[in-house]
Amino acid sequence: PKNLHELASKKNLNFGVAIQAGDVLSLETSALLKEHFNLIVPENTMKWKNIRPTKTFWNWSDMDNMVDFAEKNGMVIRGHTFVWHQQNAPYVDSLKTKDEAVAMLTEQITMVMERYKGRVFEYDVANEVLNEDGTLRDTVWLRTIGPEYIDIAFKAARAADPKARLVLNDYSNEYAGTAKGDAFYELCKDMKNRGIPIDGAGLQLHLVAEHTFNREGLLAQIRRFAELGMFVTFTEIDVRIAMPSSPEKEAQQTEIFKGLMEIAATEPNTGHFVVWGYTDAKSWIPGTFPGYGSAHLFDKASQPKPVFEDLKKILADS
Ligand code: G3I
Repeated sequence: PKNLHELASKKNLNFGVAIQAGDVLSLETSALLKEHFNLIVPENTMKWKNIRPTKTFWNWSDMDNMVDFAEKNGMVIRGHTFVWHQQNAPYVDSLKTKDEAVAMLTEQITMVMERYKGRVFEYDVANEVLNEDGTLRDTVWLRTIGPEYIDIAFKAARAADPKARLVLNDYSNEYAGTAKGDAFYELCKDMKNRGIPIDGAGLQLHLVAEHTFNREGLLAQIRRFAELGMFVTFTEIDVRIAMPSSPEKEAQQTEIFKGLMEIAATEPNTGHFVVWGYTDAKSWIPGTFPGYGSAHLFDKASQPKPVFEDLKKILADS
C-alpha cells in the first residue's frame, strides 16, 4: 500500500478529515479525499443550524450526500455534533423550560441517529461542555436542563442507535495533569461509574507549533481512558503556526504531527487520526486565531507538505 489511509488501515487506524458539504460534489476535492483518507466528518453539515434550520424543516440532503459518498468509496463517517453552544438554530438558543429543552434535544438526537443508523459509526454526542478551569460551560442546555443534560443526551443517543460509538469531545483536554484535562477525565469517569452510555473520549488536538508537545501527558491521558474501558479518538487535529512561518516553526509542527501519529499507531485504544480540514487554502484558523495559519497537512496549493511522507513512514515502520 502507498496511500496514507491504506498504511493506516494496516495498523487498525483510520485516517480522517473534516469536510464541507460541497467537497463531495467537487471532482477535484472528492478525488483528493478518496486518495488520502478513509474517514470523513461533517465539519458543519450536521450542526443544528444546518441540519434543522427551523423546528420543522430538516435539511437532510447535504448529510445524505456525504454518507452516500463515504459508502461508495469505502470510507466511514463520524457524526459531529448534537450538544454544542455554537451553531444552534435561533429556536434552540431561546429555549426556556426544562421540559421543552429535554424534548427538543432528545428529538434532535433521535431523528438524526435513526436516519443514519448503522451508517455513521461514531458520534460526538456532546462537544465542548467544559470551561478552561474544568467547570461546566454556561450554555442553553445547562441553563434550561441543568448538569444532567449530558446524561440525557447520551442516553437518547444509545437508544436511537445502540451500535453507534458515543463520544464526549473537547479541546485542551489532551494532557493529564492540566485543569481541563483532569476535569474532562473525571467527568467521563463519573459518567462511566453511573452507567451512562459513553464509549469514547474525543481529543480535538487543536495544537500550536510553538507550544511544547507534552507526549507523556497525552500518553497518560490515553492510558487512563483505556483503564476505564474507553477508547480515544483524535477528532480535530491541526497545528497552527504564528505567522510569518519559518523553517524552525515548520520543524516544530512536523514533530507534533509525527508525535501524534506515533501515538495513534501504537496505543491500542486509539483508532482514529482525524484532521480538521486538509488544506491551508480553506482553513478555519485565520478567522478564529488572527495571525495564525498554515495549520494543516496540505499547503495553500493543496499539495501535501513534507510531513505527509513522514507520517507514511511512521505507519510503514511502526
Ligand atoms: O456557509 C456560510 C456562507 O454561506 C456564508 O457566506 C459565510 C459568511 O460568514 O459563512 C458560512 O458559514 C460558516 C461556516 O463555518 C462554513 O464555512 C460560518 O459562518 C462559520 O461560523 C463556520 O465556522 C465553523 C465553526 O466550527 C463554527 O461552526 C468552522 O467552519 C468549523 O471548522 C468549526 O469547527 C469547530 C468544531 O465544530 C468544534 N471544535 C472547534 C472547531 C473550530 O472552531
